[in-house]
Amino acid sequence: MYGKRHWGDTSCGPARFLKRHFKLPAFLTTLIILLSGCAGVPSVLTPSSPPARQVVTLWWVMFGLAMVVLLVVIGYIILIVRRKDREEGLLLPENDAQARAVVTWAGAIVPAIIVVGLMAYVTYVQSQTAAPAEPYELTVEVRSHDWWWEVMYPGYDFETANEIHIPVGKPVKVRLTSADVIHSFWVPELQGKTDMMPGTVTTTWLQADEPGVYPGQCAEFCGMQHAKMKFLVIAQEAQDFENWLEQQQAPAAQAEGEDHRQGQQVFLESECIFCHTVRGTNATGEVGPDLTHLASRREIGAGTLPNTRGFLAGWIVNAQQFKLGNRMPPMPMEGQDLQIMLDYLTGLE
Ligand code: CUA
Repeated sequence: MYGKRHWGDTSCGPARFLKRHFKLPAFLTTLIILLSGCAGVPSVLTPSSPPARQVVTLWWVMFGLAMVVLLVVIGYIILIVRRKDREEGLLLPENDAQARAVVTWAGAIVPAIIVVGLMAYVTYVQSQTAAPAEPYELTVEVRSHDWWWEVMYPGYDFETANEIHIPVGKPVKVRLTSADVIHSFWVPELQGKTDMMPGTVTTTWLQADEPGVYPGQCAEFCGMQHAKMKFLVIAQEAQDFENWLEQQQAPAAQAEGEDHRQGQQVFLESECIFCHTVRGTNATGEVGPDLTHLASRREIGAGTLPNTRGFLAGWIVNAQQFKLGNRMPPMPMEGQDLQIMLDYLTGLE
């Protein structure tokens, strides 16, 4: 007996025990772990724009077809394995001619029809989603950096970061480029991925059915903090969007009161100004995000932390602790200086 055992033989004690008692729990655990990836936003399965809806329909068609093929193949394999009497033909070839016919049809003709059909459908969806039916409402430019997003609105004199506001229901053209390596612009609920490459401009477009916040994520591995390279697309009613544009174009809030002025002074005398811009001051650095309206944004560090006073303090003192490898060096500060600088920065609305 011993000599005849082969791989996969479960007649020995431990293997049999595992097979008997853990097959179902192991299967269920794996299933739960895999399915947990489907929970929560953002998901391509909850589309909120015309192109995203077309993409998700395509996805379901491909998934459905793949399942049908899988079930047919598995069914056929089971049929062959289970057949006790090898002389009795049930859907199985009885001679060489029949075997050749099975290989020709199931191995070549049917797969070819499926693949070519899917390719035609994919091409159709691509042509349908390449550009919107209506003319563009406006253009946004996004430049990716390791690991954040610089956002500009041509024709409007301001710059922001990691947050793209768009008017709801209107198609917005998005011109993409990269300052360093290849990144990919992806808003799962609104649009498919578009690569961003240094030295060239790629184009995509966004449109949102409902006002709301749609998370975006870099979708091309770009280094250590690829996962913490997120952004938000915020779709607003026309009037709210106009107000936002106006607010962003306004110069930075002036420091009011003695404390505030001192806070501004601490900031303007710190190393911060070599990397960051606050329009209307001597802070004109271009390495990191423009801080002119920092307090109007929801997150810090491209989705790393919520933009609250406490997290901002932690980020300033040691951004490396939250996002190792980013360009912002640790900045040890006196408690009093940090507090009044925070007064100033949290007032930059
Ligand atoms: Cu940028 Cu991944």
